[in-house]
Amino acid sequence: MKVIKTIQEMQAWSEEMRRTKRIGFVPTMGYLHEGHLSLVRKARELGDVVVVSIFVNPMQFGPREDLATYPRDFIRDAELLEKEKTDIIFYPDTQEMYPQGYTTIIQVKGLENYLCGKTRTGHFIGVATVVAKLFNIVKPHVAVFGQKDYQQLKIIERMVKDLNMDVEIVAYPTVREADGLAMSSRNTYLNQEERKKALLIYASIRAIEALFKQGERRAATLKEKAHEILGSQPGVDIEYVSICDAETLEEVDEIDTRGLLAIACRVGETRLIDNSILTEDL
Ligand code: PAJ
Repeated sequence: MKVIKTIQEMQAWSEEMRRTKRIGFVPTMGYLHEGHLSLVRKARELGDVVVVSIFVNPMQFGPREDLATYPRDFIRDAELLEKEKTDIIFYPDTQEMYPQGYTTIIQVKGLENYLCGKTRTGHFIGVATVVAKLFNIVKPHVAVFGQKDYQQLKIIERMVKDLNMDVEIVAYPTVREADGLAMSSRNTYLNQEERKKALLIYASIRAIEALFKQGERRAATLKEKAHEILGSQPGVDIEYVSICDAETLEEVDEIDTRGLLAIACRVGETRLIDNSILTEDL
């Protein structure tokens, strides 16, 4: 495994590789957990060589968000990736990615206005921009993204389509802790009590899935269930509970055959998200 820190070296490596090999890519912000590692395994399955990027992207953090405290542990990450037989870690610094004079942004309109985009202004511009840059640097044939960040996945799919980027986007299901909590680098912010309360998010998802299976299709009734469960303990502040179209992310009053349930809430200071696709074959 090799660590590459410069764009020039990364591009040269990829250029050479592309002649004979398929490059699988997993972009991350590090502080890796089993969710990230599952994406790496998937990338290995789909490609001959695997590149993982670790870059805490300042452009996707709002002024009151956790850029400064975002957890980082490069040595541990590198050990984990070595075990997964990663070929390259691309690990640039901020100066390398956004040198003086940098001004270009990518905005995926429409999709950014829903769910997390409502409160995290500019977040998805930061995500789309850095992912586009990473695609130009790593030149992957296939890139794997988690369904845990569903809106991000849809925005990247849209960007790739709209800008005719020559990369295949593959989605990977959400990896959970044994008790159901969706894995996230931000889970480390939770104290013991908050960690327990965070389980209410998955409990809500399971309860809504059960209602859906029983035939309930009205969004208001389904959302009410989540509010009831999340509201059952103090210290869980709901940002949104959404039932929306799984492609456009527009709110729906009633699910036809397929819809997205998405939840964002704050447990203490920590913002957590989770989702589930509600389909007939749940
Ligand atoms: P990060 O939060 O580090 O996540 C990197 C990738 O891991 C994303 O595709 C995310 O959806 C996926 N992931 C996170 N938790 C997961 C889980 N529990 N199960 C499955 N996949 C999971 O998402 C980002 O970084 C950044 O926005 C990035 C795309 C790297 C751009 O900066």
